[in-house]
Amino acid sequence: MKINFVEPALPKTGSLVVGILEDRELTPTAADVDRQCGGALKRAMEFSRFRGKREQTLDVLVPQGLAIGRIVLLGLGKAAELDEGKAEAAGGVAVAHLNRVGEKTATIAIDKLTGSKLAAAAIAARVALGATLRAYRFDKYKTKEEKDKKPTLTNLHVAVADQAGAERAYRPLEKVAEGVFFTRDLVSEPANIIYPETLAKAAKKLEKLGVDVEVLDEKQMAKLGMGALIGVGQGSARPPRLVIMQWHGAAKSKKPVAFIGKGITFDTGGISIKPAANMEDMKWDMGGSGVVIGLMRALAGRKAKVNAIGVVALAENMPSGTAQRPGDIVTSMSGQTIEVINTDAEGRLVLADALWYTQDRFKPQFMVDLATLTGAIIISLGSEHAGLFSNDDKLAERLSAAGKETGELLWRLPLAEAYDKDINSDAADMKNVGSGRGAGSITAAQFLQRFVNKVPWAHLDIAGTTWSKKDTATVPKGATAFGLRLLDRFVQEHYEGK
Ligand code: BES
Ligand code: MN
Ligand code: ZN
Repeated sequence: MKINFVEPALPKTGSLVVGILEDRELTPTAADVDRQCGGALKRAMEFSRFRGKREQTLDVLVPQGLAIGRIVLLGLGKAAELDEGKAEAAGGVAVAHLNRVGEKTATIAIDKLTGSKLAAAAIAARVALGATLRAYRFDKYKTKEEKDKKPTLTNLHVAVADQAGAERAYRPLEKVAEGVFFTRDLVSEPANIIYPETLAKAAKKLEKLGVDVEVLDEKQMAKLGMGALIGVGQGSARPPRLVIMQWHGAAKSKKPVAFIGKGITFDTGGISIKPAANMEDMKWDMGGSGVVIGLMRALAGRKAKVNAIGVVALAENMPSGTAQRPGDIVTSMSGQTIEVINTDAEGRLVLADALWYTQDRFKPQFMVDLATLTGAIIISLGSEHAGLFSNDDKLAERLSAAGKETGELLWRLPLAEAYDKDINSDAADMKNVGSGRGAGSITAAQFLQRFVNKVPWAHLDIAGTTWSKKDTATVPKGATAFGLRLLDRFVQEHYEGK
């Protein structure tokens, strides 16, 4: 789907989308169009339940006196409540609707709304972003899809008086959307296509945008002493990789910010093997690293004024004759030893070495890791919030705020010494699971905390939010790229140009 910004004028083909505020209040363009077709819009509303609430739509077909075949009334809710997120949602809803009815070309009319804090150009840019994000589809393996199931919309025109302003506002947003799409593609691919080497190769593509990308193989990791990461990968025919991405967007003297991703390209559980039901979901156990790679793409794409590091720990967790066993003791890069009680608690093992490596080499301002780490976080929070853990209140607050602004919500859970004790081992410095069944997400976070060396750090457990079973306004079901927009916003608000 192609998007462009055009001058406000009644289109001659396709559909025209006009906004309606709550209680059927016509926006200026809607009122104008209503006059031109003899009051058809108002009459259509009277014959329906459409009230102009957010996410409502109503079609007016073949309006008399106009060349176009359809006018879509798009509910915007209350003008005073229309913020960036709601404008994005309106764009997403419009695209979904136009595809549902089989439209090919459409124009969305954007007006300045009295009572809204947003300028028309800002609304237009956000509508365009929401439309783009919702239009995402991963269908490269569908060779026989029926025509009437395929999306039809190929051209979306966003009509706004301040075209230049809208284009300017949209430029960086488009780069973020490109990052989101890159992540969604990587996370959607099956594990026979995306495994450590091929995921590393995908990250290498960022070099074209000016990102430095290094890929460490098993030998190099062994030299660094990354026994925890290597142990997870040793059962697989696909060897592990550690990828280090660097974006230099600020002065050399500026300390970098660092993002670390769990990249288990498939998680069978290893010798502590998972049940067969839904095991296919574990292709997206690299969701955290997918977001880190997409985030680096977004930051580089929009030339963010920040020095950013992305580190992804890639391994495939398989059972085999070479796989690690429950009870094995591995030595991490930090020197701390770990008794592997459960080979299915592998994410924390690969992150242990990635976190230690990142702080040791880069001395970052802070580290944020993203990981589909625990089933327990899905029990706690479902798919509405990701879990947030942090040793730094300011960092946690900034992340939570950016989450609210982008609709990628976080909920903070505690860290405390009592939980930490639960992962002490009789045989080694620690074990990779807690002794009880309770607080599984917290003990996992406590484990990670032992590898951050007191650097300000936050951990996002995205097991419940990386993949969605249902469509939302701007996120079609499937890979969500949850965390990317939130972190991009967080960087933009606090770590650029200062
Ligand atoms: N990748 C899983 C967590 C997961 C589960 C993500 C379901 C998405 C959906 C992780 O590696 C894992 O297996 N965690 C175990 C930990 C347990 C063995 C302590 C879990 O959550 O059951
Ligand atoms: Mn696992
Ligand atoms: Zn896992």
